Amino acid sequence: MGAMLDAPRAARDIVRASTRLRSVALVPEIRLYQASEPISVWQRTETATGRTGLDPPFWAFAWAGGQALARYLLDHPETVRGRPVIDMASGSGLVAIAAARAGAAAVTAYDIDPLAVAAIALNAAANDVTVLAVGADILADEVAGTEVLLVADAFYERALAGRVTRFIERGQARGADVLVGDLGRAYLPRDRLSPLATYDVPGLAAVEDADVKRTTIWAPIPATAGHRPGLGGRAGRPA
Ligand SMILES: C[S@@+](CC[C@H](N)C(=O)[O-])C[C@H]1O[C@@H](n2cnc3c(N)ncnc32)[C@H](O)[C@@H]1O
Repeated sequence: MGAMLDAPRAARDIVRASTRLRSVALVPEIRLYQASEPISVWQRTETATGRTGLDPPFWAFAWAGGQALARYLLDHPETVRGRPVIDMASGSGLVAIAAARAGAAAVTAYDIDPLAVAAIALNAAANDVTVLAVGADILADEVAGTEVLLVADAFYERALAGRVTRFIERGQARGADVLVGDLGRAYLPRDRLSPLATYDVPGLAAVEDADVKRTTIWAPIPATAGHRPGLGGRAGRPA
């Protein structure tokens, strides 16, 4: 993305100008800078940067997977309380903010989009929590010290989904707990996951094919259940 968006202040200005701070439908305790529809945000960003072909403004919406996972963390704070947490493909930062609210020891949110990094910082401040927003692709890396790995709505493209799946597997092998929020996107590795909870997430008409989407919290199937090795972690047990 353009150098302009790498300037944090310019990115923050775009986020603020394209959105309004309002409560998240399924998680009204959290407020985010949210847009009402994606196209005008996209156009505004292209005009501001003088560039075309930018990523969709994922950061301007609370996706179904993120809303469900944020709700789950607030309803099950013991999942993250006192533990180091990573929110991968964080977008607006919703899941990271919920983890911080639930008492996580330290929360790091990763996204490759500089506008998402700006949005995460603004949204964390608006909710009075500390989240470290990092603009980096760490899917090929090992992340040492993370106890809980959170992933919401990151299985929408085949290549990305494959990389996220391998990242999750490596985290599991190291002993991290993994929780996934997903409505059942095309590339979700369902055969490797078991459902923990389900939510009907409302208010999604601007970005989905229906206003309400049934969305599930998933955990990797424990290796002891006789499935693939390397996918057994503590999150595989009901929270
Ligand atoms: C559909 S959004 C989900 C955002 C948020 N988790 C939620 O549920 O509201 C997917 C996000 O993944 C990010 N993303 C895509 N590839 C990534 C990568 N390799 N590393 C980190 N984030 C990535 C996108 O920039 C986008 O913000």
